[in-house]
Amino acid sequence: MYRHDAVLGRMASSRTVMFGSQTAHSAISLHPIGASVVRTKKSEETTMARRNATIPAIVAAIFFLDATAMLPYPKAEAKSQMPKQVFGKIQDGQSVDLYTLTNKYGMTAAISNFGGTLVSLKVPDRDGKIGDVVLGYDNPADYESGKAYFGATIGRYGNRIAHGKFTLDGVVYTLPLNNGENTLHGGIRGFNSRVWTTKDVSSSAGEALELTYLSKDGEEGFPGNLSVKVVYTLLADENALRIDYSATTDKDTVLNLTNHSYFNLAGQGNGDILQHQLTLYASQITPVDASLIPTGKLQDVHNTPFDFLQPMAIGARINMNDEQLKFGRGYDHNWVLDKKSPSALSPAARAYDAQSGRVVEVSTTEPGVQFYTGNFLDGTIHGKDGKVYGFRSAFCLETQHFPDSPNHKNFPSTELKPGQTFHSTSIYKFTVQK
Ligand code: BGC
Repeated sequence: MYRHDAVLGRMASSRTVMFGSQTAHSAISLHPIGASVVRTKKSEETTMARRNATIPAIVAAIFFLDATAMLPYPKAEAKSQMPKQVFGKIQDGQSVDLYTLTNKYGMTAAISNFGGTLVSLKVPDRDGKIGDVVLGYDNPADYESGKAYFGATIGRYGNRIAHGKFTLDGVVYTLPLNNGENTLHGGIRGFNSRVWTTKDVSSSAGEALELTYLSKDGEEGFPGNLSVKVVYTLLADENALRIDYSATTDKDTVLNLTNHSYFNLAGQGNGDILQHQLTLYASQITPVDASLIPTGKLQDVHNTPFDFLQPMAIGARINMNDEQLKFGRGYDHNWVLDKKSPSALSPAARAYDAQSGRVVEVSTTEPGVQFYTGNFLDGTIHGKDGKVYGFRSAFCLETQHFPDSPNHKNFPSTELKPGQTFHSTSIYKFTVQK
């Protein structure tokens, strides 16, 4: 029988891993504690106090300059054109919205405050023709009843926690089971089915939408009031969508935040993704048991169907007689990214579709990426524009910490403590190949 303490693989960096945004947070101090780049609460409170103070203009200007040094983006105000429209109603009668971010190349990203969901992502192909490259629904009710997590912000804990149990500070926490004997993507009502508070935070870097959510102590079994912020930025000067995550807690907790977009570079609903050429910048995976829980080992990808170090058609080896592929019904695994330093924003994946010429390059500060090939899609879902989503009609590249990390001491830590601020950044950049 599988035992969680039978951990064999040892990661050299596992106890000192930090993760965070590389580019921007100039005022952040780094501490090798647990999971995160840390910014003291005190400095945040001070900043807030500065922002709120009513003081003479000249003093205000000085403080303003000081405060801007801490912001992730240049402050020069851009004229935001971000339209907001009613997306529809969810079961409790609440109306939720859809915000559309646009850049000068005609790329758009539509995001809902329901689930912090990326509803559409429209990018040009090699002929300049714009197409929607993510799967989804036309209304929030379908997102609410759906089980696929299309485009959603996933939390409090992305992917599985074995038997819905973990121990933190000697306390055993029990989570609702929603995936056989395990907890998946935060439980029965994860962050994907919560209504988030929004704010337009556009700047010269690009149109940007901030979403915040307070996950209360005990929600879905997790400890601590967790304040979560997700900022989607559609970059102004390239076709890239950047997602910045941050979070603070008032009690020791665990978290693993990701975005669950399903990509098809040929356009959503336009056949399967088996011919897409994929590169994954990762030499190891975390192999799983039959219920898709990591065994705790790290497995080298060389000479296996999991080797995507060089571009390879997704479908080339997907049906091989391989135990791991059988467990996943295809690819549904976490790749351990090859990183120069644990907190670096570094390449995770590249996918290319020869039909459209579209390329997506994913980079992240996270240590892993869950590559999932839509093995549970079976043609029963009718998505946007009535498109039917068949078997393997999309792939996910969920940048994340490893599944079930709270039960594997050798994996990079997912713990967050009061006084720390979790930061993480992932960028999805689109280009074309002729
Ligand atoms: C999981 C899959 C799951 C899918 C949709 C992925 O992150 O690894 O097993 O079917 O999400 O829930």
